[in-house]
Amino acid sequence: MTTHYFQSPPTFKFLLPLLILQCITTTTLAQAPAPAPAGPTNITKILEKAGQFTTLIRLFGNTQVGNQINTQLNNSNQGMTVFAPTDNAFSGLKPGTLNSLSDQQKVELLQFHVVPNFLSTAQFQTISNPLRTQAGDSASNKFPLNITTSGNQVNVTTGVVDATVANTIYTDGTLAVYQVDKVLLPMSLFGSQSPAPAPEPVKKKKSGADDDTPSTDDGSAVASGGVKFGGHSHGLIMGCVLIVMFCL
Ligand SMILES: *[C@@H]1O[C@H](CO)[C@@H](O)[C@H](O)[C@H]1NC(C)=O
Ligand SMILES: *[C@@H]1O[C@H](CO)[C@@H](O)[C@H](O)[C@H]1NC(C)=O
Ligand SMILES: *[C@@H]1O[C@H](CO)[C@@H](O)[C@H](O)[C@H]1NC(C)=O
Ligand SMILES: *[C@@H]1O[C@H](CO)[C@@H](O)[C@H](O)[C@H]1NC(C)=O
Repeated sequence: MTTHYFQSPPTFKFLLPLLILQCITTTTLAQAPAPAPAGPTNITKILEKAGQFTTLIRLFGNTQVGNQINTQLNNSNQGMTVFAPTDNAFSGLKPGTLNSLSDQQKVELLQFHVVPNFLSTAQFQTISNPLRTQAGDSASNKFPLNITTSGNQVNVTTGVVDATVANTIYTDGTLAVYQVDKVLLPMSLFGSQSPAPAPEPVKKKKSGADDDTPSTDDGSAVASGGVKFGGHSHGLIMGCVLIVMFCL
């Protein structure tokens, strides 16, 4: 193919844009397979790679619960399970919900999303309720978390909200991260004090779910693209650069 271009220089100049386009397309495709994360398991890295979890990442950072998860994963053999609400789930909260919480309550809210043992999707079918979370006491007015299933559908119920497990983001036999469509609000923080805390999903939500946070999606896409660049892609980019240089 290249030889042909060299034989007819005028055509080559014409075809150069096409050639570059081809290079870009190939490079983009080469990024697709994500390499396994190296080193100790890092919940932040996993969520960054998955995209659409910027709020959860920020809260894990502010409350140090993210570090607790990493440390505990490294030091225990029970494994862990994390229920990860999407950015959309956080946008669905009543305005001011997070700001109404003290720092300690924020820690509890985040810990409520973490179960201190590994749960596969198969285990959801036979699990005994209520689950004990990192937030502690699972008594009915404290931090109860129940799993209900129907066929392959898995719901997480807190007594305040009923969330659906939408997706398995990550599982390695030690850590499981499941995407949930609502923030899991515990009874002890949201059970009685707010008269109607359950945020009713907007009608549009189903179809336009991902369109609510376009800037976030763009940001994550760029970030993960950068991370995923491997040696193969670099080779292709160098190839493109060389072709352009040769032509000029
Ligand atoms: C985990 O990943 C985040 C983001 O990639 C990074 O900032 C942080 O330093 C990592 N933590 C550890 C303990 O490696
Ligand atoms: C993980 O645990 C090992 C031994 O239990 C320890 O030496 C190491 O520093 C720990 N790494 C992290 C990132 O906590
Ligand atoms: C899960 O929650 C959805 C929406 O709240 C509900 O329609 C469905 O019946 C629930 N399924 C189970 C198994 O609880
Ligand atoms: C959770 O399950 C326990 C045991 O089945 C039940 O007593 C409790 O009412 C359930 N709580 C919620 C919020 O569904």
